[in-house]
Amino acid sequence: MTNQLDTKSQAWSALFSEPMSELVQRYTASVFFDQRLWQADIEGSLAHAAMLAAQGIISQADLADIRHGMAQIRQEIESGAFEWRLDLEDVHLNIEARLTRLVGDAGKRLHTGRSRNDQVATDVRLWLRGEIDTLLALLADLQRALLDVAEPNAAVILPGFTHLQVAQPVSFGHHLLAYVEMFSRDAERLADVRRRTNRLPLGSAALAGTSYPLDREQVALTLGMVDDQGRPQLCRNSLDAVSDRDFAIEFTAAASLCMVHISRLSEELILWMSQNFGFIRIADRFTTGSSIMPQKKNPDVPELARGKTGRVVGHLMGLITLMKGQPLAYNKDNQEDKEPLFDTVDTLKDTLRIFCEMVGGQLNPATGAKEGGITVNAQAMEDAAKKGYATATDLADYLVKKGLPFRDAHETVAHAVKAATSHNCDLSELPLAVLQGFHPAIDNDVYHCLSLRGSLEARNTLGGTAPAQVKAQIVRHRARLA
Ligand code: ARG
Repeated sequence: MTNQLDTKSQAWSALFSEPMSELVQRYTASVFFDQRLWQADIEGSLAHAAMLAAQGIISQADLADIRHGMAQIRQEIESGAFEWRLDLEDVHLNIEARLTRLVGDAGKRLHTGRSRNDQVATDVRLWLRGEIDTLLALLADLQRALLDVAEPNAAVILPGFTHLQVAQPVSFGHHLLAYVEMFSRDAERLADVRRRTNRLPLGSAALAGTSYPLDREQVALTLGMVDDQGRPQLCRNSLDAVSDRDFAIEFTAAASLCMVHISRLSEELILWMSQNFGFIRIADRFTTGSSIMPQKKNPDVPELARGKTGRVVGHLMGLITLMKGQPLAYNKDNQEDKEPLFDTVDTLKDTLRIFCEMVGGQLNPATGAKEGGITVNAQAMEDAAKKGYATATDLADYLVKKGLPFRDAHETVAHAVKAATSHNCDLSELPLAVLQGFHPAIDNDVYHCLSLRGSLEARNTLGGTAPAQVKAQIVRHRARLA
């Protein structure tokens, strides 16, 4: 005979006159995706049980039984021996039922003063907090990987674009540092989301609080739900506590923005490694061949990252829409928060991991150096910067320094560019006499300012592309990430 106590139709039970159909069970169950919350679920239950015992609501003997049973469950889950049951609906009921089988009445007392509503909200927050910490470490790694490529390339010149038209020469290091800025903002956002995630719903029970004398602050302290000063952080309205999923939405929004940054970087990597640019190579293991065209090496990893960005942004839309019509307090709709949230974490984590390696390479334990990151073709970059009159602004600035109003200088240079275009040459290749035909103030010193390097070095304002500025920013970033 099966143990009637741990079949769900019996769990809340005497009221129900018929069992659930298999289809309804599958439709309502979450155990096959929410089982990944098991560690948080056990951690939350142990904190709750310790507090119940400290408050005299359950006995010390019950607490000891619960701890003992949970230790065994932990081991069963880790070893794969735990039997997850669909009829027990979710991770919470699966673990509780197993506990009761193992330790009897103590297991049945665990749920005193608690509901699955505050339980699941606590579990998701605990789990997400841990994932945010992993993501913050990965974001720091990716920033370091970008700095490692930026540093030796601070003086390497490539064309900077606006409208994807050659605009002005920029340093390749400077270009990469733009992404370091984006990822540093992503880290700031995640750290901020973490503060609002790390608050305790437990103790709110189903929706209204509970009549047992719980010590919620104690539970928050046990679970590390504390602020910078170590003060316990509690959700302070029981209705909001059980129904709030803002933290999940905020997280997914921050993750979406981070994926958008990854996607923009991907698009550039894809362009740069195309034959028409030839600026960089990425290691073969991040590319695939074609089944028909033997010459192909396709940038599958950046392309997929660009594609997966759509999927994460989709999860943000899903989660925010999930909440829009819900009355207070908990509704079963909220069970639908998990798959988008989990997939967002998985996608972002894998993407960041792979980008750390693709950009910065892999550590060779023998040499202690990183190998196999982005390979830069500095010559191709510089050659490309020579096309498209990237130093035209520098000639205008030169004339301004000789006393021309900027608008007149701009017009004068437009004529010079037109002439150079018709001669099919760069501005720096026009003889001095020809340049002087556009304005008599032009002198021999013009050729320095028409050179790519002169142009780059001239942009020496804070945040500008001059190699000296780029190096200063690298120093600042390294200190920030240390
Ligand atoms: N599996 C549920 C969820 O993910 C747990 C909470 C269930 N609460 C309830 N009242 N049915 O949201």
